[in-house]
Amino acid sequence: MKHKLIAVASDHAGFELKQHIIGYLEEKGYPYKDFGCDGEKSDYPVCGERAARAVASGECCCGLVFCGTGIGISISANKINGIRCACCSDTYSAEFSRLHNDANMLALGGRVVGTGLAEKLVHLFLTTEFEGGRHKDRVDLIMRLEKRDTE
Ligand code: RB5
Repeated sequence: MKHKLIAVASDHAGFELKQHIIGYLEEKGYPYKDFGCDGEKSDYPVCGERAARAVASGECCCGLVFCGTGIGISISANKINGIRCACCSDTYSAEFSRLHNDANMLALGGRVVGTGLAEKLVHLFLTTEFEGGRHKDRVDLIMRLEKRDTE
């Protein structure tokens, strides 16, 4: 996913980790667009929605979102059609969210993971390709679920 725009967003509880990961993206040469917050008290569904819509519309190739646990912002992002946001705090899940689920957003908890682990999770998410094959059929079934619910 290198050299395509990455959406980043956080609430206040994920802000510090977001800032750290922005530094990591800059160091590695990944372009990104920050959808807030700026550190002030903010609601994770609001910033999560902004980043998720940028991914769903194709403006961004994928997204990295942060709140206290990573849970609230991932649930919010997953309400937007086309989004598969994985909330991860271990390397195996981050890698397989790409290999098997073709996740297009990663959610991390600023109160859960340290900066070193967060960098590793982001690296795996950004560099692992979807395996496709039988996993594509399952991802297609996921996307059919959201279609059925909006018909
Ligand atoms: C904010 O205090 C906290 O509830 C939020 O960042 C997140 O952890 C919710 O899932």
